[in-house]
Amino acid sequence: MILNAHDLRKKARQTLPGFAFDYIDGGADDEYTLRHNTAIFDRWMFTPSVLKNASQRDLSVNLQGTHLSAPLMVAPTGYNGMLRHHADHMLARAASHANIGYMQSTVSTAALEDVHPSAPDNHWFQLYVLKDREITLDLLKRAQQAGCKALVVSVDAVHFGNRERDKRHYRRPMKLSWRALAGVAMKPGWVIRTLLPGGVPGFGNLQPYLPPELQKGAGGASYFANQMDKTLDWATLEWLRARWQGPLFIKGIMTAQDARQAQKIGADGIVLSNHGGRQLDSTLSPMDVLSEVRNQVGPDFTLLADSGFRRGTDVVKALALGANAVLIGRPLLYAVAAGGEALVQQTLTTLIQEIDLTLAQLGCTRLDELHPGMLRLK
Ligand code: FNR
Ligand code: LAC
Repeated sequence: MILNAHDLRKKARQTLPGFAFDYIDGGADDEYTLRHNTAIFDRWMFTPSVLKNASQRDLSVNLQGTHLSAPLMVAPTGYNGMLRHHADHMLARAASHANIGYMQSTVSTAALEDVHPSAPDNHWFQLYVLKDREITLDLLKRAQQAGCKALVVSVDAVHFGNRERDKRHYRRPMKLSWRALAGVAMKPGWVIRTLLPGGVPGFGNLQPYLPPELQKGAGGASYFANQMDKTLDWATLEWLRARWQGPLFIKGIMTAQDARQAQKIGADGIVLSNHGGRQLDSTLSPMDVLSEVRNQVGPDFTLLADSGFRRGTDVVKALALGANAVLIGRPLLYAVAAGGEALVQQTLTTLIQEIDLTLAQLGCTRLDELHPGMLRLK
């Protein structure tokens, strides 16, 4: 029976070849942060007050003009085509069905123009800044023309994390080891669902910029790694701010000081994130810094958070500490791998029900009634 993120993970592990499972599941170095991201929720405890009549509840939230029925967004994740053919579309449609947000990665398998009709009202674009500024600007133009409601610039993957679980599956870059290939052969169902319909998945957004020899399959990965702008700094973000008219968010911030700086350069909000423990290991969780960041930026700046959220109670804890909404990453990837769109829908429904029940049990009718006094660190 699939009731929660643990069950989803177990099912995904059975469904995927080892290299693909480890790609989504793994973190950097010793995975201290990966483990901390989920463990932290066991330390924040509720102090519920009773007799409040919370029989009617409203979970809706407005994020800089994007109206959502629940405070959730699908986190941007690259190369979802490795999990299932059309995974990007499935995630977008399920998000749209639940009327929550959908963020699409620069390095998604499907092109943003193809996915947009699947989530027309709630589609945000996540940008990785590329060395080639013409291409970076072209991506902005495409996101705007397609109708993306906001831009999210990810700033924490400029220097790619050391992911040893990934490394063990490859003999050289992009070449799976014989052992990993044997693992693929053991999962014929995955091959049929994932590779047969469209071949080895590629990078839809980058396709127009790739030299012909890299256009097929995963060749875009090496191009992308080489195109990451390692000089990225606040001036670059100001440059982007001047070139994107809609709401702009910076993803990957972890300190109050950087949050203030984001505010100063005119960002509309940030995503507090340690990239799901995939980048700098031993980084704190957003749950460690949320209160402090909220106090520094004031009540009106939009604060989103991700990294480790698995339960409705996890989400409500972040909202109580000052977040406006939460991004869900791995659980939805496990779901799309293990059961496709129907299982992603079921996962979102369950999460929303859990948030609703938590609110009821805390005696709240609306999200803005949540406050830090409802929590204590044990
Ligand atoms: C990511 N993440 C990510 N972030 C981003 O800004 N652009 C990207 O392309 C990706 N790609 C990506 C791939 C995979 C497989 C994972 C698991 C994650 C990070 C993602 O947006 C989010 O910050 C984390 O997934 C949050 O951690 P949890 O909750 O999924 O553990
Ligand atoms: C990752 C990159 C794509 O986390 O952001 O795998």
